[in-house]
Amino acid sequence: NRRITIRDLQLAKDRGERWPMLTAYDYSTARVFDEAGVPVLLVGDSAANVVYGYDTTVPVTIDELLPLVRGVVRGTSRALVVADLPFGSYQASPQQALESAARFLKEGGAQAVKLEGGARVAPQVEALVGAGIPVMAHIGLTPQSVNAFGGYRVQGRGDEAAHRLLQDAKALQQAGAFAVVMEVVPSEVATEVTRALHVPTVGIGAGPGCDAQVLVWQDMAGLRGGGKPAKFVKEFAAVGDVLRDAATRFGDEVRSGAYPAPEHEYS
Ligand code: KIV
Ligand code: NA
Repeated sequence: NRRITIRDLQLAKDRGERWPMLTAYDYSTARVFDEAGVPVLLVGDSAANVVYGYDTTVPVTIDELLPLVRGVVRGTSRALVVADLPFGSYQASPQQALESAARFLKEGGAQAVKLEGGARVAPQVEALVGAGIPVMAHIGLTPQSVNAFGGYRVQGRGDEAAHRLLQDAKALQQAGAFAVVMEVVPSEVATEVTRALHVPTVGIGAGPGCDAQVLVWQDMAGLRGGGKPAKFVKEFAAVGDVLRDAATRFGDEVRSGAYPAPEHEYS
């Protein structure tokens, strides 16, 4: 009963098997997803939004993410745990990337890291892989660049942008990335990239042609803040409603005196 490795994920692509990936940010939910057989868990910098309540992923730090990684690693025995390198922790140089990634492996216990960007971050990917750190790449709508994009919009639309996305994916594979996440890109483009790469692609809003699919677990389970979910989200449960209901009933029973009942008491 060993952990999934990047080799297992490569073999899955070679066999034409699709696999799921979810984010996780704590021990309890990581345990549940591990028990559900989700082979890859990402401690995403989306923790900025869903754990810390920031508007974007830009402000979240390594020190904020590391404790979450530890919890997820302790909650899993099968899943490969990938830690997201936050904004500002790898862009400066391959050496900076190495120092940041090493913290997630040494102090966090993660088995791999993820970073955002195309050919521009290939030197970082090469340095990490050269040091024995598996790297998941992430292209398309890369939320750490929201200020450069001017909002969250579809990426890789049009021939030139599609061509650039393909070139980025190839450069990242060449640098040694074990998988490439594509976020919010047209399905045809994601399918073309998936066919062109020998390493697996992981889609989020990138259509059914990818080798794997990832969602933020709160989106997957219907535990959202305000607003309507992105088009690519499917809510497989209504956990927000279930929790609100449970908290409301707990409150009602405390107020009425129905809880605790005799069976909850110590004599
Ligand atoms: O931070 C995150 O949750 C991610 C995935 C959605 C790919 O990067
Ligand atoms: Na992320």
